[in-house]
Amino acid sequence: MIQKKQIVNILSIETSCDETALSFVTASGGLENPKFEVYGDVVASQIKLHQPYGGVVPGLAKRAHLENLPVLFAEIVQKRGVTPAEAGVQEGIDSDLRRNDNTREVEFMDRIDFITVTVGPGLEPALWTGIEFAKELAAKYDKPLVPTNHLEGHLYSFLLSQKVGDTRYEIRDVGKMFPAIALIVSGGHTILVRVDSLSEYKKLGETVDDAVGEAFDKVARLIGLPYPGGPEIERLAKDGNPMAIDFPRPMIGHKNYNFSFSGLKTSVLYYIRDLTKAGKSIPKADIAASFQKAAADVLIKKTLRAVEEFGAKSIMISGGVSANRTIRTLFAEAIEKKFKLKKDRPLLIVSEFSTDNALMIAASGYIDYLRKKKYKMEANGNLNL
Ligand code: KG4
Ligand code: ZN
Repeated sequence: MIQKKQIVNILSIETSCDETALSFVTASGGLENPKFEVYGDVVASQIKLHQPYGGVVPGLAKRAHLENLPVLFAEIVQKRGVTPAEAGVQEGIDSDLRRNDNTREVEFMDRIDFITVTVGPGLEPALWTGIEFAKELAAKYDKPLVPTNHLEGHLYSFLLSQKVGDTRYEIRDVGKMFPAIALIVSGGHTILVRVDSLSEYKKLGETVDDAVGEAFDKVARLIGLPYPGGPEIERLAKDGNPMAIDFPRPMIGHKNYNFSFSGLKTSVLYYIRDLTKAGKSIPKADIAASFQKAAADVLIKKTLRAVEEFGAKSIMISGGVSANRTIRTLFAEAIEKKFKLKKDRPLLIVSEFSTDNALMIAASGYIDYLRKKKYKMEANGNLNL
């Protein structure tokens, strides 16, 4: 049982793919107006580990999570476990850090109201490491567990995007936000969602084949860029012409809200193959820019059509691909153009925490706690929204 309190202290854990992440967050307010204060946020990226393989290797990810979890936990406890108000005089902390007993861990866990952990979707061997770590801590300190959904993490990451002060986040005007259209674009998913409130949402469509992040990673590989390909493509695209090559925009005219990116990737493959056969040089920057533009066009067109159909007041984009500044700019320009004549233009909300992190897991854990949503405490690689 979680005690009903005005402010809850949350420890969150994320290990669904190749980032091990933990956060310590305090949350308050109801579903109408949740507020968060962040006191600890650590991420250990495994990019270097997987890079030689051109993608995430589940067995390696699992081993790295097992190594990282206790180290990150110690970091959260030692360095950031104390809220500024509790810390008192700053000098006290350093000498305290040198204490090598586990008093600070006990003190830290004492304040935690619940532990929330990602149970899916993702790589199951990786997910289990976080789940087991959470279960052990919960048993040791007699704390409740809140299993949560990684996709809801991305969806709710916007809750930590509206900063008021150094550590504090809150939605300033809930009334202006819903209904909203949320686009989740990551390495494993491309999903369009209608969000009516923080507890009600409906999936409108998703990719029928590759996720858009996956397409970025595959195209990057085709032109010899390392994993993860998204940031590399974005960088290279700056030197290229987005109009140079007319790659297809799959399903852009379809009336439904589904996406497809595998054909786009294949047409990049054929384009490179034909040039290679003809003995011509490969215009890598133009390919990166034209591919990025084609992918962005489809995402933007379908999202804005949903905004129009449902009269959405805001557009939330989240997930790793939303880190892409060019795509963000294209979104902003398209909104400006399409809704030029409207008095209230839909608000574009881009999550500050777009790639995998534990803050978004604290946010979705808190929402699950408020709306009493109960996921199973076991890894589910295919969990959906
Ligand atoms: O959300 P995320 O960190 O993990 C998943 O849940 O999948 O997303 C990772 C994906 C990768 O495919 C990566 O290439 C892509 O996000 N990504 C980007 C950018 N940064 C990361 N794609 C395009 N542009 C970027 N700047
Ligand atoms: Zn993710």
